[in-house]
Amino acid sequence: MANQGVNDPIHEPVNTGRRRFLTATTAVVGAVGAGVAAVPFIKSWNPSARAKLAGAPVTADITALQEGERLVLEWRGQPIWIVKRSKAILEALPTLDDRLRDPMSQVADQQPAYVLEENPELRSIKPDISVLVGLCTHLGCSPEMKAEIHPEPFDPEWKGGYFCPCHKSRFDMSGRVFQGVPAPINLLVPPHHYEDDNTIVIGVDPSQSNSAGAA
Ligand code: FES
Repeated sequence: MANQGVNDPIHEPVNTGRRRFLTATTAVVGAVGAGVAAVPFIKSWNPSARAKLAGAPVTADITALQEGERLVLEWRGQPIWIVKRSKAILEALPTLDDRLRDPMSQVADQQPAYVLEENPELRSIKPDISVLVGLCTHLGCSPEMKAEIHPEPFDPEWKGGYFCPCHKSRFDMSGRVFQGVPAPINLLVPPHHYEDDNTIVIGVDPSQSNSAGAA
C-alpha cells in the first residue's frame, strides 16, 4: 500500500552512515516541506501535542523489510524508524537491562502502553518489528543505527542499538537508553497499529483502527 502524504519510504541497510541517513530523511521531509533534525522534539511530546499529532496517519508497507534493515519515513515532521530485528538481537535485549536507565519503560508518555503488554523489553507490538521516533531524547539529534553485535569504540560490550554522536547517548535496539548518558528517557514509540501482517499505520492506536471499530 502506498504511503499517505509522503513519498515512498526508504530502506536502509545495516551500518549505513549518518550522511546517508540524513540525506534519506531530508528527501522524505522535503516532500512535505517540513524540517526535522534541528527541532528539539521531546519538549512538545505531551498529551495535548499527542492529540494534535493523532490526526495524520502514515501507512508503511514492510513486505520487503529484511532482518537488520531500517525503513525510514516521515510522520508529522518526525522521522519514524521501522526496524526488523534478528533473533540474536531479540535474545540480547534482556541481557542489557542492568545497564539501562529505564529497562521496563516505566516513564509515562515515552511509548503507548500496548507496546509493553507482551514484553516490555521489546517495546513493540510484534517481537521483531520495532517502531521508533528517530530523534534523540536529549536535544533531538538523529542517532546512528549500529545494529550489529560486536565491540564498538564507544562500547566494547555493544549488542546493537543506536548511537547519538552529538553527545554520545546510546540506546539499545528497543530504543532503551543506557545509564550515564545525557539522554533522559528512552526513544519514543509513536502510536501505531497493524492494518494487516505487512502494513503498519503510524499515528493511530489499535483501539482506534477501523478493524477495532468493526470488531
Ligand atoms: S542530542 Fe543526542 S546525545 Fe545530545
